[in-house]
Amino acid sequence: MVRRKGGGVGRLVMVLGLTGLVSLVAVAGAHGSYPAVGGGAANLGLSAGPHRHRERAIRRLESFKASLAAGAAPSPGSPITSRSRVYHVTDYGADPTGNTDSSEAISKAISDAFQVPSDHVLMPGIADLGGAEIHLDGGSYLIGSPLTLPASGGGNLKIHSGSLRASDDFPTDRYLIELWASHSPSSDSSSASSSSYNYEYITLSGLMLDSNFRGGGIAVVDSLRTTIDNCYIVHFTSDGILVQSGHETYIRNSFLGQHITAGGDPDEKNFSGTGINLMGNDNAVTDVVIFSAAIGILVSGQANTLAGVHCYNKATGFGGTGIYLKLPQLTQTRIINCYLDYTGIVSEDPVQLHVSDSFFLGDANVVLKSVNGVINGVNVVDNMFTGSGKGVDIVQLDESNGKFTNIDQVIVQHNAVRGMILRSTVAKASVDGNGSVWTVDFSPVLLFSDRIQYVQYTLLSDSTSPNHALRNTSGNRVVIESDVPVTASVYVAVDQCVPNIGEF
Ligand SMILES: *[C@@H]1O[C@H](CO)[C@@H](O)[C@H](O)[C@H]1NC(C)=O
Ligand SMILES: *[C@@H]1O[C@H](CO)[C@@H](O)[C@H](O)[C@H]1NC(C)=O
Ligand SMILES: *[C@@H]1O[C@H](CO)[C@@H](O)[C@H](O)[C@H]1NC(C)=O
Repeated sequence: MVRRKGGGVGRLVMVLGLTGLVSLVAVAGAHGSYPAVGGGAANLGLSAGPHRHRERAIRRLESFKASLAAGAAPSPGSPITSRSRVYHVTDYGADPTGNTDSSEAISKAISDAFQVPSDHVLMPGIADLGGAEIHLDGGSYLIGSPLTLPASGGGNLKIHSGSLRASDDFPTDRYLIELWASHSPSSDSSSASSSSYNYEYITLSGLMLDSNFRGGGIAVVDSLRTTIDNCYIVHFTSDGILVQSGHETYIRNSFLGQHITAGGDPDEKNFSGTGINLMGNDNAVTDVVIFSAAIGILVSGQANTLAGVHCYNKATGFGGTGIYLKLPQLTQTRIINCYLDYTGIVSEDPVQLHVSDSFFLGDANVVLKSVNGVINGVNVVDNMFTGSGKGVDIVQLDESNGKFTNIDQVIVQHNAVRGMILRSTVAKASVDGNGSVWTVDFSPVLLFSDRIQYVQYTLLSDSTSPNHALRNTSGNRVVIESDVPVTASVYVAVDQCVPNIGEF
């Protein structure tokens, strides 16, 4: 970046900037109220004193002056305005002590923030709100009804920095914050966005959301490129976060739990609800902890990535699941660098599933559940599993609905295992013997019960050189025979899934 120092153009900017400064003072002085968007400020019934607004106006002037001094003044053509697009909910009468209901006040701040400042758009039909902020002013607000973004839609907006708590009569089928146009009170067919998406680039950050055991935390429906960052979401009964349709909701650096606990909770058996319910495609959950819920993350949309997720919600032994992939035959999920802590992963008819670099503690494992018997393109590789010696398989086939019959490209290998049963789709072993038959039983290690697609062996004899052959692989038992008895060692490598190179 090139920055101009001094010079005639810079001085011209300065002069124009100062002219603007004068008019800025005039505007701030004349209205004295804030925010002054759309001329509606006078009707807001502001409860906070005007002094705060003046202080803010002065602060804005000071930072503006500072920006002039730094040579970063706006270009001569751009209008200078006092209308901040930071909407402080306390300016709307929201009660930061949480004693009285603030739903209406915050909703009003939101609807003002959704007043479109320009004719810029993001996706066609989604107005660019210019980076407007709904600032919760570090307060903790009681909410009797959901904060649903306006049905007119919009994008480039942030809600941040405070706490919301559902009141005792909050509707149990709703969420504290809803990006959900059809739930909006202003929703009707004419106001809805012309796009199939209603919201784009909405950021929710620095929020503590307490659902007070009434409904959920955040619902993101038909939205694009949503960020949920640094949020702490508790006491939900449905979902901490619901993502439905749309795509690219990024949930990161957040903590979710139905109950506030640090593990080993005496009521763990009663935990219910779902931490994150992903019913859409192309989302990412990264660096997130789910510390209580019946299901940590429930996925029923494709191409989602879960990375750096620590689940210690309801233990598998109590009927819980860390990550449940309910996408039979089109899974397309990557689970990388996660920590499954006493609660495991379940995937129905997995087709394209990758689980790697993760740590499974307390007998947590991966259960591949047959629905229609299809399993294809599954990697469970390079993980660590630690258990208590109870004989739990690291990867387990649940064939209670019927056996897996359509199996291809399943790779389970390179896992480091302590106190659990190592399962793999490849194995090697050797036997020594004196005779004409050598048998290696791979059934204690191979994942599929009667399936060896590939065998490679070496017969090493120091005396004679007999003729020998592979005779049988039934039941995962490899049988090698020689035509004459010899003393020999036989080395065998087997593979349960060899890709069919004729198929693409
Ligand atoms: C948890 O469940 C048990 C048995 O179902 C019940 O006795 C107990 O009261 C429950 N605890 C809570 C906190 O609901
Ligand atoms: C191998 O078995 C044969 C009889 O089947 C016996 O004669 C021979 O001594 C054995 N060799 C060794 C090394 O044990
Ligand atoms: C392979 O072994 C199984 C089980 O022992 C047996 O039933 C089957 O007949 C054997 N097949 C051949 C070709 O020997």
